[in-house]
Amino acid sequence: MGSFAGVPASIMGTGLYIPEKMLTNEDISKMVDTSDEWIRERTGIQRRHLAEEGELTSDGAEKAGRDALQDAGIAPEDLDMVIVATNSPDTIFPGVAPKVQGRLGALRAGAFDVQSGCTGGVYAMALAVSGIASGLWRHVLVIGAEVLSPLIDWTDRNTCILFGDGAGAMVIGAAKEGDGRFISADLRSDGTKHDQIVFPGGLVENPASAETLEKGYHYVSMKGNEVFRFVNRIIPPFLRQFCLDSGMEPEAIDWWFFHQANQRIIERAAERLGIQSEKVIINIDEYGNTSAASVFIALHEFLGEGRMAKGDKLLFTAFGAGMTYGGIIYEA
Ligand code: ACO
Repeated sequence: MGSFAGVPASIMGTGLYIPEKMLTNEDISKMVDTSDEWIRERTGIQRRHLAEEGELTSDGAEKAGRDALQDAGIAPEDLDMVIVATNSPDTIFPGVAPKVQGRLGALRAGAFDVQSGCTGGVYAMALAVSGIASGLWRHVLVIGAEVLSPLIDWTDRNTCILFGDGAGAMVIGAAKEGDGRFISADLRSDGTKHDQIVFPGGLVENPASAETLEKGYHYVSMKGNEVFRFVNRIIPPFLRQFCLDSGMEPEAIDWWFFHQANQRIIERAAERLGIQSEKVIINIDEYGNTSAASVFIALHEFLGEGRMAKGDKLLFTAFGAGMTYGGIIYEA
């Protein structure tokens, strides 16, 4: 855990891209042995949006990125860095971020991807803020983007009910007097649990072969119940300590942006932390788990509702493959 020192960094604008195509629980119950009731009760999900065939993660990332730049009033040429958090890059290389940087014409900017499970979005925010704090960068476009649908086995009811596609973005810039600022971050990992969520095929460990295809190594696989128990055990005490280390009680946080993986996980964590439900942002019903994009999507929608006041404290937190987890606090 650390508090940010140096040049303060603020959120200058946000953006969003959600594919139009929608898949309801009813639709999924015609594909695998499940039901709308089971999915809603166990996860809180009612529907998810899916990319069209051929629509890539870079396409959604570019759209959300343009939206955020417009919202921030920042020209692409003013960007110093483009960071894309994703677990579903178009290809392993090149990364998604260089493609987006090129398409936006962000001529002075560097670009790289962050791949850290669903926590990637929170990691990417912390990296952007650190780069600004150090004086290295002034304006960073941070995007969380996923097209997970081609990586899902649509015959596996353990995973296919959970995930959705989408992208969200944020321009983070050096703060001026009176702007909001990021306060602190804590980024963690328990790599002993690296086998809990995996996409095993097609690379060094399991180069693509007829055998890897037959075994379905080109799909996400997950020990869902172990993930569920790990997160329930680790996340509430982690968040309490993170708040205390940041000089505040959990009650001091006005708005909680949990990674939208499972509504039961979010509600249980909120209960254990003594957080009122009105302070917890939930949109998993509409989008499912959009992995590294989820906290960006939730923030963009929330800001559009006009509920945030000057001085409010926002906490973003996520967990995912690795198992990675982390949090970052922002004062508006
Ligand atoms: N429909 C109906 N029944 C189902 C379904 C389904 N879609 N999926 C599983 N079941 C069955 C199981 O087979 C099992 O049946 P059994 O008791 O006869 O064996 C029963 O339901 C209970 O299964 P559990 O796995 O114990 O169900 P659980 O309540 O844990 O819910 C879920 C499963 C929703 C996957 C939950 O464990 C979960 O959300 N885990 C967390 C996943 C997560 O957050 N991943 C995030 C990170 S992703 C990333 O980083 C890329």
